[in-house]
Amino acid sequence: MAILETKRLRLRPLAEADIPVLHRFWTQPDVRRYLWDNVIISMQRVAEVVTASSAFFEQCGSGFFAIESKDSPGTLLGFCGHRQFEDGETVELLYGILPEHSGQGLVTEAAIEVMRHGFRTCGFEKVIAVTDTPNQKSVNVMQRLSMVFQRRCEWRGLDTVFYEMDQADFPG
Ligand SMILES: CC(C)(COP(=O)(O)OP(=O)(O)OC[C@H]1O[C@@H](n2cnc3c(N)ncnc32)[C@H](O)[C@@H]1OP(=O)(O)O)[C@@H](O)C(=O)NCCC(=O)NCCS
Repeated sequence: MAILETKRLRLRPLAEADIPVLHRFWTQPDVRRYLWDNVIISMQRVAEVVTASSAFFEQCGSGFFAIESKDSPGTLLGFCGHRQFEDGETVELLYGILPEHSGQGLVTEAAIEVMRHGFRTCGFEKVIAVTDTPNQKSVNVMQRLSMVFQRRCEWRGLDTVFYEMDQADFPG
């Protein structure tokens, strides 16, 4: 099982047992606004996401990781990881943090390690990140990771920005 560590964090694959906590997390207004286009997703949908993540771990060695603090192991603060983008080819980075743990650099710290894992262990050649243009906090994470702006366009009816990073450009 892929377990990653950073200075402050332990990252472990999302599991079935996380589903109720994830549902509370992902349906909070500030979290769901951009993550789920403001839709209050069902517990069943959360379960499907966790199942897809586990399948991606099996297939490619990565997926969605739970972000836990080393100071309070077992408590989920957020998530960060890879999934197959809907084009069926590209790997996408996705993340989120409970509002009360935002603004401490935890997501960026987790995402750097997840990107390293993706490029160095899984051999991903390119990783993209996609968000609604108004989601400046998410764009800030992409820019702190040194991802490169690719395009801004209407995507599923929403003003959307795409960032990307090639394996060869990953600094770590
Ligand atoms: C997008 C999201 C993950 C960003 O969270 P975040 O807390 O701003 O990101 P980080 O954990 O990397 O923290 C960075 C912030 O902490 C600050 N910070 C404080 N202490 C820090 C430290 N020790 N190290 C680094 N940054 C620190 C940074 O200055 C930065 O603030 P800024 O963006 O105002 O400059 C969060 O807003 C979220 O979960 N949103 C809902 C879900 C979502 O939209 N996900 C993205 C979908 S595409």
